[in-house]
Amino acid sequence: MMKNNLGIYIHLPFCKEKCSYCDFTSFCADEKTQSRYIDDLLKEVSCYRSDTEQRDISTLYFGGGTPSALSPFLLEKLFRGLPKQYFSAEEITFEMNPESVSLEKLSILKEAGVNRISLGIQSFADRTLDLLGRIHSAEEGVAAVHHIRQAGFKNLNVDLMYAIGEGYPVEESVRNLVKLQPDHISTYPLELYDHRPLSKILQPVDDALSAQEFSFIHDELIANGYVRYEVSNFAKPGFASKHNIGYWERTDYLGLGVSAHSLLGSHRHSNSLTLAAYHDALSRGDKPIEERVELTREDQAFEMLMLGLRLTDGVDLSLYRERYGDLSKGQKKSIMKFRDQGLIDRRKDRLALTPEGMNLMNLVLVELME
Ligand SMILES: C[S@@+](CC[C@H](N)C(=O)[O-])C[C@H]1O[C@@H](n2cnc3c(N)ncnc32)[C@H](O)[C@@H]1O
Ligand code: SF4
Repeated sequence: MMKNNLGIYIHLPFCKEKCSYCDFTSFCADEKTQSRYIDDLLKEVSCYRSDTEQRDISTLYFGGGTPSALSPFLLEKLFRGLPKQYFSAEEITFEMNPESVSLEKLSILKEAGVNRISLGIQSFADRTLDLLGRIHSAEEGVAAVHHIRQAGFKNLNVDLMYAIGEGYPVEESVRNLVKLQPDHISTYPLELYDHRPLSKILQPVDDALSAQEFSFIHDELIANGYVRYEVSNFAKPGFASKHNIGYWERTDYLGLGVSAHSLLGSHRHSNSLTLAAYHDALSRGDKPIEERVELTREDQAFEMLMLGLRLTDGVDLSLYRERYGDLSKGQKKSIMKFRDQGLIDRRKDRLALTPEGMNLMNLVLVELME
């Protein structure tokens, strides 16, 4: 990626209802609150004008929350208010949930220049969807995919959850998903949070069941022409997510909106977590930054390994050396050991985890950090 490239993430935090497992920054709110949020977001965009004007916006990503929960009126207000430059991005993704997909909203997105939809289906079993507190049925998930294709979108991701619990198997959902032929599939093992209602009724699944379900997903997707290009992400050739690859390759990105994170040169920052704090900062004319961390050269070097090893193509070692110098003696020794154990592969000048290594990623990283 070129040095001047910048990814932009825009957080749209509203959901019609809150799912029983979700710990993301998302709220149920009326249209007036949502409209004020769009005003705040556009103020924040202005705060960064001098940082973005001279950059090449490579990707733009609207995530949530449920971006598709915004009304057609608010979607148009948002798209009208954002700088035209943002829409020069090569990949523009918009997250949708099945219950809020409509041909009217899809045509507004198309008109604005969105060229990739990410649809949160999670499961094709109604009893699993009920358990998760989703407000759509499996049938609505299928209908949403058809509407998205009908509206002319050629690049579609679907989110799928697994490791939900004994009695909530993933196999049937995977078979149904493959029949719909999305271009990209993101997989998520369910994470339970103590303060979310689902943790009161479900026990975490054991590692063996989680690994067995992932292995089923993996084999089924590979057999159907998908490539695993990252630990949890699969795509048809040519459809890997450019925006997410930017995160794993440590390309700069600017996160706008409540709770959004940014990486700009040698620092990371994150925004206010509540709508009130976000609004107050922007009303004072300040950037709504809650935390700012300056990264040392060592931090940056380790991040490059940690994030790059998530990709099946791994880390470009010549780029690593150019930026941070040679790997240390200790790191080289660990790499040799992991290579002998079949966990790491060194192809040309790239360092990558093998499939076995991906299952033991934390162990490898802990040693490479030392
Ligand atoms: C923040 S959500 C936004 C997408 C959209 N609102 C939706 O619900 O489909 C992104 C993805 O994170 C995943 N996710 C959210 N909470 C999770 C949890 N507790 N465990 C595992 N995956 C989770 C879901 O698969 C979801 O599609
Ligand atoms: S719809 Fe998505 S963001 Fe909203 S509560 Fe559910 S999982 Fe979280």
